[in-house]
Parts: sequence; C-alpha cells; structure tokens
Amino acid sequence: MDAQEEDRNVAGERVVNRDLGYPIVVDDDVRPAIADWLRARSTPWVVVCDAHPEVLRLARSIARSVPGSLGVLSFALGEQRKRLSTLEGVLDALVGIGADRQTLVLGVGGGVASDLFGCAAALYMRGVEYAHVATTLVAMADASIGGKTGVDLPSGKNLAGVFRDPSAVFAHVDALQTLPYRHLREGLAEVLKAAIIEGNDLFEAIETLSPHPFWRWPWLDLIGEAIKVKTMIVADDKHEAGMRELLNLGHTFAHGLEKASEYRIAHGAGVALGLRAAGLLALRTGRFSEEEHLRVLATLALLGMPLQTSVPPARVFEAMQSDKKKRGGKLRFVVPRAIGDVEWGVEAPDRTVRDVLALMTTAPEALG
Ligand SMILES: NC(=O)c1ccc[n+]([C@@H]2O[C@H](COP(=O)([O-])OP(=O)(O)OC[C@H]3O[C@@H](n4cnc5c(N)ncnc54)[C@H](O)[C@@H]3O)[C@@H](O)[C@H]2O)c1
Ligand SMILES: [Zn+2]
Repeated sequence: MDAQEEDRNVAGERVVNRDLGYPIVVDDDVRPAIADWLRARSTPWVVVCDAHPEVLRLARSIARSVPGSLGVLSFALGEQRKRLSTLEGVLDALVGIGADRQTLVLGVGGGVASDLFGCAAALYMRGVEYAHVATTLVAMADASIGGKTGVDLPSGKNLAGVFRDPSAVFAHVDALQTLPYRHLREGLAEVLKAAIIEGNDLFEAIETLSPHPFWRWPWLDLIGEAIKVKTMIVADDKHEAGMRELLNLGHTFAHGLEKASEYRIAHGAGVALGLRAAGLLALRTGRFSEEEHLRVLATLALLGMPLQTSVPPARVFEAMQSDKKKRGGKLRFVVPRAIGDVEWGVEAPDRTVRDVLALMTTAPEALG
C-alpha cells in the first residue's frame, strides 16, 4: 500500500482513503493489501470472524497469507448475538489463544462483527490494536469506519460501547458476491443515507443505477464515495458532539423499528423505513418539499426497499424512547431540508412522531 495512493478512484482499481488518519482500502480482493500491511508490522496477530462459512473461508485464507497469526477464532453472530455475553466469549477466547497487549486483532465480517470485535479489542487488556475486513455493504460503506464500537442491551440498540479508531479498514468488495440479495439491497439504505446528506452527485448516481441489476453496479466506486461522505463528517466531529449526528439520518426511527420488531427488521431495512419516516417528519414540520420526498421514496422503491411496516406504532414509539440521542428527556431527529441539506438535533412533538409512525403502516405516499 503506497502512501501516495490517496483517494484514487478509478473504476476497477484500489481506492485508499486516509481522511481519518488510518488507511481505508477498498478493493475487489483486499488480501494483497492486508498482507502488505501486516508484513510492515512485526506484531503477532489473531483473526476473529463471523462464523458464516463464506466469511470463515476468507478469514482462514487471510490467516494463511502472512506468518505471525495466532489463529482464527470464529463466532456465530447476528444482531441477536451483538450483546455483552458474546463480547465476554470473544474476550475469553482471546485469553485462550494467548493474545497479549501487543497482539493485533483483525476482525472479519459485517457490521455486527465490526461493532462487537472492535469493542472487544478496545476492552481487551485495556485496549489492543484493531483492524477490520468488511464483508457486507453496511460494514464497507459505514459500520467499520469512524471508531464507533459496541453492543446492544436488552433495553436498546448500541447502548454499551466505546469510541475507538481501528488501525486500518479493508473493504473486500468481492465478498458482496456471496452476500444474500436482501442484505445487499438493504445495505444500500446506508449508502442512500450518505447520498441524501452529500447531495446531488452520489444521489444522482444511485438514482441512475437503481433500474439496473446489481451485478452491473460499479460497487468499488460507489463504496469509495459513500466512505468519503462518512470520513468527511467524522473527521470534523469524531465523538458526535454535533455534525456527526447527521449520519443518524433515519436512525431514530430505524432503531425503534428494529427493537420493536425484536430485530426481525434488520438494520438496513430499518434505515430504509427510517428514511421514509424522516422524510415524513420533515414534511410535517415544514422542512422538506413533497417533490424531494417523493424522489427519495421513488429511489427506495426502485431498489425494492421495504417502505411500510406492520409493527404497531405504539410499540415503535415506546422502543424509540431508549434512543441515545435524547437530550433532557426529549427525542432528537435528523431530518432532510433538501437532498444535500440535512438538519440534526430537531425536536418534534410526540403527537407528530406518533402520526408519522401511523403513516408508516400505510402504503407509501403517491406510490399507490
Ligand atoms: N458503528 C457504526 O458506525 C455502525 C454503522 C452502521 C451500522 N452499524 C451496525 O452494523 C450492524 C449491521 O451490519 P450488517 O448489516 O453488516 O449485519 P451483519 O454483520 O449481521 O451481516 C449480515 C448477515 O450477512 C452475513 N454475512 C456477512 N458477510 C457475508 C458474506 N460476505 N457473504 C454472505 N453472508 C455474509 C452475516 O453472517 C449475517 O448473517 C448493526 O448492528 C448496526 O447497528 C454500525
Ligand atoms: Zn446505520
């Protein structure tokens, strides 16, 4: 990996983003980049991965590629297992394999893996180095970047965790080939979220691509662009004191829906639903134009995203009350004013929020 390779973004070629001070490498096959990066260090390392067979296969091939690996530890994951008991299991396994304070933990998997393993590395012996190999679209475009790690509590999503930057992130774009179609599609909700924040270029690119089958999409470039939006915002506000809240567009609703559905609604699907809900809230509070709201909805619909839910609004409203962004007991939302102009810290009357949740059980506006 060459330090001169800043942000190169040519179709089919490796992209390296260094906006956050650590390399984020996007490539079809990141194994050569990982091998170079590991060889340049003399530390022992251990691979921890999601036990999904495709992820495990990749993890093992990475472990074989460079000497110094203590081995591969795999864990059955999924949102239901993103919790303290799994974290304890990871920490115990690190002790069992002989990891010490010099050991680098290399996580492989999706967003659940990056949140959970990143948190385990931050806690292990008060913190060891961590790098992540992302194997889902959510992890590549969003979750593995920016240093937010953690687990869910029974009372709500992501309620325990730490901010801790990884030393490197590798987005293994080839992994998208084995990702179930539903996960790929729902992962696009995070990319679309970034596109609404960024504005026209990325949004128009997705709009143009949306009628085409996924195999024709320029994933490497698209992921590189979504990462740029995230790194630009995180670089300005690492600990979410303000602007980083923008990245929570649609997420107050999403987390409420995920929890109220007992995680039958996956994160990406929750974000798609949350983008409709945030648009509705923006319309109801006079911030967004109907035309732009319908433009977002049409793109979500073309991509086959869920836009309507049967989860009872009262349950979602209750689940939303444990949201981390609450200040002084009040929920705060991120809402679009336009595509490319998003506002954070918006308080809304409970009645308006309940109205929006009621609308979410009905067919999307103007789409029939
Ligand atoms: N920390 C952050 O900034 C941040 C940002 C966005 C999302 N998140 C978190 O990310 C999580 C969601 O991530 P996700 O959608 O990647 O879920 P996930 O990690 O559960 O992966 C989805 C599914 O795909 C499987 N899988 C992973 N890679 C695969 C591959 N290459 N081929 C086939 N199957 C594969 C997994 O086993 C799992 O069943 C949520 O917990 C969310 O809160 C965190
Ligand atoms: Zn998210």
